[in-house]
Amino acid sequence: MSSITSETDAIEQARKRIASAYDPQLLQSAGREIVDLLVSQLESCQKSAGSVLNWNSPPENIAEATRLLCSGISDVESATPMERIRLLAETMLSRGQNLQDPRYIGHQVPASVPLAGLFDAIGAVTNSVMAVYEMGPWATACENALVEELGKLIGYQAGSFSGFITHGGSLANLTALLTARNVALGKSWKEGLLGTNPQPVIIAHGAAHYCIERSAGILGIGTDRCLKASLDDRGRIDVELLEALIVEVQSKGHPIIAVCASACATPLGAFDPLHEIADLCEKYDLWMHVDAAHGGAACFSDRYRDLISGLERADSMICDAHKMMFVPALCAFVFYKNREHRFDAFQQNAPYLFDPSAPDIIEYDSGLKTIECTKRAAAFGLWGLWSTFGKELFADLVDVTFSMGQILSEKLRAAPDFQVLHKPECNIVVFRYLPEEIAGRKAEQIGEFQLRVRRKLIESGEFYIVPSSFEGIAALRCTVMNPLTTPRHLDQLMDALRKYGRELL
Ligand SMILES: Cc1ncc(COP(=O)(O)O)c(C=O)c1O
Repeated sequence: MSSITSETDAIEQARKRIASAYDPQLLQSAGREIVDLLVSQLESCQKSAGSVLNWNSPPENIAEATRLLCSGISDVESATPMERIRLLAETMLSRGQNLQDPRYIGHQVPASVPLAGLFDAIGAVTNSVMAVYEMGPWATACENALVEELGKLIGYQAGSFSGFITHGGSLANLTALLTARNVALGKSWKEGLLGTNPQPVIIAHGAAHYCIERSAGILGIGTDRCLKASLDDRGRIDVELLEALIVEVQSKGHPIIAVCASACATPLGAFDPLHEIADLCEKYDLWMHVDAAHGGAACFSDRYRDLISGLERADSMICDAHKMMFVPALCAFVFYKNREHRFDAFQQNAPYLFDPSAPDIIEYDSGLKTIECTKRAAAFGLWGLWSTFGKELFADLVDVTFSMGQILSEKLRAAPDFQVLHKPECNIVVFRYLPEEIAGRKAEQIGEFQLRVRRKLIESGEFYIVPSSFEGIAALRCTVMNPLTTPRHLDQLMDALRKYGRELL
C-alpha cells in the first residue's frame, strides 16, 4: 500500500470517529438523558434531599476527574457512549455545589432560573458567538434588545445611552474604567501613562470589590493610586469626606479618572448615596462610575428601586445579570449614559474582521466595544427568561430575596446568641454566632470560632454560607441567592450553627 493510500485510509477512519461525535441521534439521546438527570437533581435539591456542598478535598476531586479523563468508553463502568455520558453527567452532578438547594445561602451567585440554562445551551450547542454581527446576528439582536430595555429601566434616556454585555462584573468594571481613562487622558490609549505628571488617580468606595483596584493596576494607574473614599457608619461613601478628598487631590493637580461608587458594596451590601455623589461629580466635572453588579437589578422592583436612585446620573455603570437577575454566569452589562462613549475604550485595526464597506453594520459589531473578540452569546439566558415570563419575574426575585435578608437579620437580632453586624439593606447579611461561652473571649478567638463553625457546617453539607470579616475580625456572611429559601430554612441555619458550635466548645 502506498503511503498516500494509507494516509487516506487513516483520514477516513478519523472521519468515521468524528461522525460518531457529531451524530444528531447521539445528541438527542444524550440530551434526553441529561435533561432527565437535571430534573431529578433539581427536584432533589428543592427538597433538600442531599448535601448542599458535596465536599471532597481538591486532590480527591482532581484524582477522580483525571481518572475519568484518562479512562474511556472501554472502562468497565461504561461500555457504550450513552453509558459513558450518563456516568460523566452523574459524576458532575454528584460532586458539585448545589445552588438550587434552598439551604445554599452563600456567595452572590444565584440558584439560576433553570430554564435560562437551556436557552444558554442553545447558544452553546450551536456555538453562536459574537464579535461581528454576521457571526451572531440573533445573539446581537437579543443583546441590543436587553440593553435598550434594561437601560430604560435604570433610568437612562432612550436614544442617548449605549451598552453591551461582557464576561463578568470584573471585566465590565475594567472596560468602563478604561473608557473613563481614555476620556480623561486622551492620549493614554496610544501613548500609555508614562510621563503623565502628576499621576492620575481613581477614587473608589472604601470597600469596593477588589476588581476596581485591580482595574487601576491593569490600566497603568497603579493600585496605590486607587484612593479609597471613607465610609460612614452604614458602610456607604461619606459624601463630605469624599468632597474633601476630591478637593485635596485636585489641588495637587492629579487628574481624577473616575469616582467609583457602589450599589451595593460587596462586604455589607451597602448602597451609596448616588444623587449626592452625582452632585459632587457634576460640581467638580468628574466621571461618575457605579459598580451596581449586585444591586442594579433593584431597577425592576417597586419596593427596592429607591436604593439605586441616582444611578441614571452615572456616566458609566455595570450590572451583573448572573447575580440578581438569576441567570447562569457570565452575563454582565456595561452602560454609558452618553452613547458617544461607546467606542472610546478600544481602538483597533482588524480588516480581517470589521468590514468598512458596511458602516451601518459596524455599529452592531460587539468586538469594537468589548475586551473579548469572540464572545459567547451571553444574552440568551436572560433574553429567554425575560421573553417567557416578562420582567415581573425579576421584580419578584429581587423582592423575595431582599426581603429574606431583612427577615434573617430580624431573626438574628431576636436571638441572644447571635449578633448582626450592620443594618442590612438587601439580601446580604453579616453576623456572628456568639454563644455565652464565646461572647467574653478575645476578638481574635471570636473570629476564629466563626471560621471553625462555618467549616464544620459547610463540610457537613447541611448549609452553605461564607466567611467574611468585620472591623478586621472574622464573621459569617449570608446572601440569600435562592428564592426558594424560606424563613424556616433560616431557623434551621441558626440551629445548625448552634449544633456545630456546641461540638466545638
Ligand atoms: C460589587 C461587585 N462588583 C464586581 C464583582 C465581580 O463580578 P464578577 O464575579 O462577575 O467578575 C462582584 C462579585 O461579587 C461584586 O460583588
